[in-house]
Amino acid sequence: MALPADFEGLTAKYQTLGLEIVKSAAARRVLVVTHIDADGLCSGSVVFASLMRKGVNVAVRTVPELDAGTIASLASQRYDLYIFTDLASSLISELESALGGRYLVIDHHQVAEDDMKRPSVVNAWAYGYDGGAEACSSSMAYFFALALDPRNTDLSPLAVIGALADRQDRGHERSLIGLNKAAADDAGAAGLLTVSKDLLFTGRETRPIHESVALTSTPYLRGLTGSKDSVLALLHQSGLPLKEGGSWRTISSLTPEEKMKLTEVLASVVGASAGASDAISALVGDVFTLEPEDSFTPLRDAREFGTLLNSCGRMGASGTGIAICLGDRGAALKDALKTLGEYRLALNKALDALANSGDRIERHGKVVFARGEGIVEERLLGPVISILTSSPGFKDSVVVGSAASGESEIKISAREGDAFAGEVNLGLLMREAAESVGGTGGGHSMAAGAKIPASAADRFYAAVAGRVGA
Ligand code: C5P
Repeated sequence: MALPADFEGLTAKYQTLGLEIVKSAAARRVLVVTHIDADGLCSGSVVFASLMRKGVNVAVRTVPELDAGTIASLASQRYDLYIFTDLASSLISELESALGGRYLVIDHHQVAEDDMKRPSVVNAWAYGYDGGAEACSSSMAYFFALALDPRNTDLSPLAVIGALADRQDRGHERSLIGLNKAAADDAGAAGLLTVSKDLLFTGRETRPIHESVALTSTPYLRGLTGSKDSVLALLHQSGLPLKEGGSWRTISSLTPEEKMKLTEVLASVVGASAGASDAISALVGDVFTLEPEDSFTPLRDAREFGTLLNSCGRMGASGTGIAICLGDRGAALKDALKTLGEYRLALNKALDALANSGDRIERHGKVVFARGEGIVEERLLGPVISILTSSPGFKDSVVVGSAASGESEIKISAREGDAFAGEVNLGLLMREAAESVGGTGGGHSMAAGAKIPASAADRFYAAVAGRVGA
């Protein structure tokens, strides 16, 4: 049951913790351990930067996932304090036994009440915030940083980037709400962020219109995402003027009437099966512009910034992602742009392979199973399933994807479509279904994951289909 949001309680908790950490700053070695996705990279960077500014002897490390083995290896490195961001909430008792009191968890994953109330755990849910919609790890981390020092408002854009990357733009017309909104307000007040309403296309300020449409994967525009030639042909036919004075126009340069026309043309293609008005409404919403960033980089649009960070994390370059969060706009940005291109190609290839091998996608009532073994890499499964779930054919479903993990295990990613009408908490579902076959799982109500023995796959799918009410 949702509690009233307790911002004062959260801030007071952070002040107490912050004082304690900073008090013995010079004598202590602190390790920030964070997740590789964009929310993980942003939250880890925020905590790291805020402690470094206070003279704490701090380092930061990323891990793709936390398990008992990783905890044991971290524990052997004898830091005085371990701060986990966007990780570990379901492993509190393992942390207790490996690290005693030497840890702090800042997170937004929903976990058991008892774990959430422990003194070393600061979880969004315990302070009345819906950790799937109103608070991400990065906004939780930002308010930790702000409690340490009110001058840390310059870190607020990272909270916005993390929230958008974790798909927490869940207010009216893709706006931010709750703790995320509070961080966005700080960024706005500091002149670092402008929020406006516009078409939600990737590269809308920087790319030719057809490229921008083709680069957009949320929503996934079937037949258009990934194929700029098809988009160009379609736009030529529509008569929309695509060039001005010999140069390509961008989406942000279109007049309101031209934007309307563009949406109608696209909706007529992608919305044919799922209702054109739905497709149109998914294309318009709050746009978050990071004012200090260069106009010709993907860093200027906070959603694109998040995609860039996700590409770093998923392609094995999380150090580059952290460097960018901490302000490197030189070599790290150059590397990240290259990684982003590779990431997009890899995602499109995986999506095409899934869509074009007829028997890989099976529908069981409201659940869709997307079997990616052999064609989707484990590390790309989460983003692939997120993109698939945003496409018109799957928006009303729960999509459960799988990929091989080593020789004998399967990685599962589950996502609930925006238009899904049922009542399912995927975090709970993944945990219960995985545990029933000897695996582990968890996550949020709309995005969750699991790891199961490969031999138990059929039993796992049956458990999931049964619980979603196929
Ligand atoms: O890996 P994926 O992107 O599908 O994860 C979705 C969400 O589920 C993430 O928030 C992740 O932390 C969580 N998860 C989990 N336990 C797992 C796998 C994923 O809590 N075994």
